[in-house]
Amino acid sequence: MEKKIKWFNQAVVYQIYPLSFKDSNDDGIGDINGITSKLSYIKSLGVDVIWLSPVYQSPMKDNGYDISDYKKINPIFGNMNDLKNLIKNTHAKGMKIIMDLVINHTSDQHSWFKKSQQNDLAYRDYYIWRDEPTDVSSIFGGSAWTYCEKRKQYYFHLFAKEQPDLNWHNPKLRNELYQMINEWLSLGIDGFRLDVIDLIGKDVDDKKFANGPYLKKYLKELYTACFAGKDIMTVGEMPGISIERASELTNEHEPYLNMAFQFSHISLDEIKGQGKWALKDLDLIELKQTFNHVQQTFYKKGWNALFLSNHDQPRVLFRYGSKKYPQASAKMLATMIYGMQGTPFIYQGEEIGMTGIAFKDINNYQDIETKQIYDILIKKGFKHQDIMRSIHKKSRDNSRTPFQWDESTYGGFSRHKPWLQVNENYKSINAKNNIENENSVFHYYKKLLKLRKEHDVFTYGDFQILELDNPNHFSYYRTFEDEKYLVICSFSEKEQPFNFSHQKFRVLISNYNDIDFEYRQTIPPYYAGILKIGD
Ligand code: GLC
Ligand code: CA
Repeated sequence: MEKKIKWFNQAVVYQIYPLSFKDSNDDGIGDINGITSKLSYIKSLGVDVIWLSPVYQSPMKDNGYDISDYKKINPIFGNMNDLKNLIKNTHAKGMKIIMDLVINHTSDQHSWFKKSQQNDLAYRDYYIWRDEPTDVSSIFGGSAWTYCEKRKQYYFHLFAKEQPDLNWHNPKLRNELYQMINEWLSLGIDGFRLDVIDLIGKDVDDKKFANGPYLKKYLKELYTACFAGKDIMTVGEMPGISIERASELTNEHEPYLNMAFQFSHISLDEIKGQGKWALKDLDLIELKQTFNHVQQTFYKKGWNALFLSNHDQPRVLFRYGSKKYPQASAKMLATMIYGMQGTPFIYQGEEIGMTGIAFKDINNYQDIETKQIYDILIKKGFKHQDIMRSIHKKSRDNSRTPFQWDESTYGGFSRHKPWLQVNENYKSINAKNNIENENSVFHYYKKLLKLRKEHDVFTYGDFQILELDNPNHFSYYRTFEDEKYLVICSFSEKEQPFNFSHQKFRVLISNYNDIDFEYRQTIPPYYAGILKIGD
């Protein structure tokens, strides 16, 4: 790869889920001023860009991914001045800030939908209406069509019924969206994360949704109308498309997106074809094959976002890591993902080793998807215990519990009972003790992210997997010009043999202190290390 990249190729991005990050006014709900008060913390980790999950006006059926007014701030998060203040302070700290852009659908409370329901001539085609439903299921379960009494027609929604899909075939709607996007950009934000953007090119009648026939057309138009010539970054969330397509859409010479969230590595603990609630154990070889494929496909062609967790995914720690070795696992998983090529994304709390939750009572869950699937599965005759087992593993609330700042009540998130229960482990897992302990996950992240920036090999180097068939460790070389690095990641609770092939090397970072490899040919449980090969 030529040594010519943009800032966002080397940036470290930190995702904030505003509801759960920091509550500044003690109403139990995280807010914008709470985020502003923690900018120094974020900066100290080595973050360059903050991504804010939605803070727009919303009835919060899907926690803000159901927008009822793109131009207003939801009062539970603060107001426009608070947001401007956050943007200003983020920039003053030398960081950038991107917003979430949800344009596949709106809330059913959006004025466009209300007018569309009434068959208002100007808005009747802003959404997707049909006289008869088809047999398409929504991603959250149940039919994707809901009947509207007012209009005597069915409208289409790939998510909850309160999230009607916009009709992208309508040029008037598209222009209105572009105008709104440009207004946001003129506020000085540095780009967008584009929510389920792979769905906008759909053909509903042909049942082609993700990666639909119009995807390139609309992405290109969006790019031309809003992004071209601006020094911003765009990252497209594209859960439904292939690795090849994601790479193609993020080629730097093409007018689409700067980088992709593609999910090939995410659903490997699900039974294929049966959806996210059908559990299976992770097969490390499958994970290695997947990442190998991803790294080879994007190399010199596209640009990938490196992530393991987000607000929709259960925290990766006990998903792909070990309960027996939580600290080592947290560091190992970070090493595995951030040793690769792409832009690192950290989901709030990952950097302090936060874990998922397992509420006994379904009523403690707040997530619309979780509640919906519980009801559907109960109706289908599944047993409560079996459903809860899936929910404990897979509910989106796993990653949405309040950020654990310190050992005080409610983890220092708020002085008021939070909207979602704090994880009980906040006394032992929190930012304060992470910062105080130099062997913590936090300090490891800091060191790892710094290392990435100091060595070009992480940005430009190629990727070569080692022992693809070895079921115990995931290890790979990164090579650039005359530099070669070896990343070693153990996924085993036992000491495992490792063939160092008598190479000379220097350990740059490791989750075990003081291992002298000269005298051993093994790696300890959940070991992670990056070795520089040569003298
Ligand atoms: C994306 C969001 C998710 C939301 C869905 C519908 O996948 O990340 O939180 O529920 O889109 O907007
Ligand atoms: Ca608040």
